[in-house]
Amino acid sequence: MGSVYNPMGKTVNVGLLGFGTVGSGVARILLEQSELLRQRAGMSIRLARICDLDITTSRGFPVASDILTDDVISLINDPELDIFIELIGGLEPARTFVLEAIQKGKHVITANKALLAAHGHEIFEAAARHGVELGFEASVGGGIPVVKAVKEGLVANRLQTVMGIMNGTANYILSRMTEEGMAFQDVLADAQRLGYAEADPSYDVEGIDTAHKLVIMAMLAFGTPVELSDIYIEGISRLSPLDISFAKEFGYRIKLLAIARNGNNGLELRVHPTMIPSEHLLAQVGGAYNAFYFVGDSVGKVFLYGLGAGQMPTGSAVVADVVDVARNLAGGTIGRVASLGLPYDMLKPLKRRPMDSLTACYYFRFSVVDRPKVLARISGILGDMDISIASVVQKGRGSRDSSVSVVMLTHEAHEVKVREALKRIDSLDVISGETMVIRIEDLKNLEKA
Ligand code: HSE
Repeated sequence: MGSVYNPMGKTVNVGLLGFGTVGSGVARILLEQSELLRQRAGMSIRLARICDLDITTSRGFPVASDILTDDVISLINDPELDIFIELIGGLEPARTFVLEAIQKGKHVITANKALLAAHGHEIFEAAARHGVELGFEASVGGGIPVVKAVKEGLVANRLQTVMGIMNGTANYILSRMTEEGMAFQDVLADAQRLGYAEADPSYDVEGIDTAHKLVIMAMLAFGTPVELSDIYIEGISRLSPLDISFAKEFGYRIKLLAIARNGNNGLELRVHPTMIPSEHLLAQVGGAYNAFYFVGDSVGKVFLYGLGAGQMPTGSAVVADVVDVARNLAGGTIGRVASLGLPYDMLKPLKRRPMDSLTACYYFRFSVVDRPKVLARISGILGDMDISIASVVQKGRGSRDSSVSVVMLTHEAHEVKVREALKRIDSLDVISGETMVIRIEDLKNLEKA
């Protein structure tokens, strides 16, 4: 009766590189929950070493000084360590450290989405070759177990759509701009203070961090190699409070959405601010929360929601990967689930849908000189390009020739024609500022199985 193998007396030794926001969360969980984790993993998990350039500043909880080091080489070369956690972020030297740890036969856990998006192929291939586990749950969705959901819980499905809100900082900014009318820069400063933002916050607000996560999710969901350059990317930095209040007026919320859909026209991959109906589940996701919406052939729709950034949620995801490795060591099942859910050499290229072939409804906000015939000239160009207008709003009336905002919503139109139309409109002498364009999605097409 019962198991013949009892590994409870054994220990897995963990080395942590990076004792910043997330690293402190990981250390805290590993130190404070060690007994709980031992019971759940079937093995003791020992935080054996922590490496950081700053090993003197208190992180607010006790850490034995003899496990702290600032010597990364000794960490990677330490033969006692079974698991190497990389939480320094960025491309180099993180890439070199991760590859060296893999070569030394260590299981690697990382939260580094930029690294996986840029060098994932090299890293996944190296991990497979050396027979080590590569855990990256924390790289996408903070504390939400999305990687495990796709690799294991949804394994029976062909997924058609993976979409969602994948950047906590951008969502936090949009939410506070929407709810409190705050200015972009003030909210960004708050997000930085709360530890949500990247070292370079332009990654958050320009959609790059979201795109890094979409690379990872699309590889997992569709079993295909994906490059950052495959993704169409637009950020939220040009959105003004005006766009947010117009969106509200039309019954929409603006969200920075990541969308991957494997449809008849090929795999579309895009990240951009999107107006979605304000009653949709995704529109309800506020603050630093993330949400992932999957559509699979058997399961139908699945929605996962939780904190997408921050010290303890992201720490929770890192520790989940640590426990997975410990369980596999305890059970002799290392490599039970391939890093990407299927052997690395089985990834297959898929036809891509070019962005130009997209059709959507659009929101345009034109800054125009307030004088007669302006609307006629703009709508003439839109008509020439087969773009049909659904509604028009002009707010206020300036003195003659002052600049005003004119907003138009279109019926479904072709992206390629929208671009051409806007090029022509923006060259009119009555246009007094940059035109804002936001795609509108009712999400119904994306929700089809
Ligand atoms: N800067 C990221 C975000 C951190 O705001 O979502 C979590 O990946």
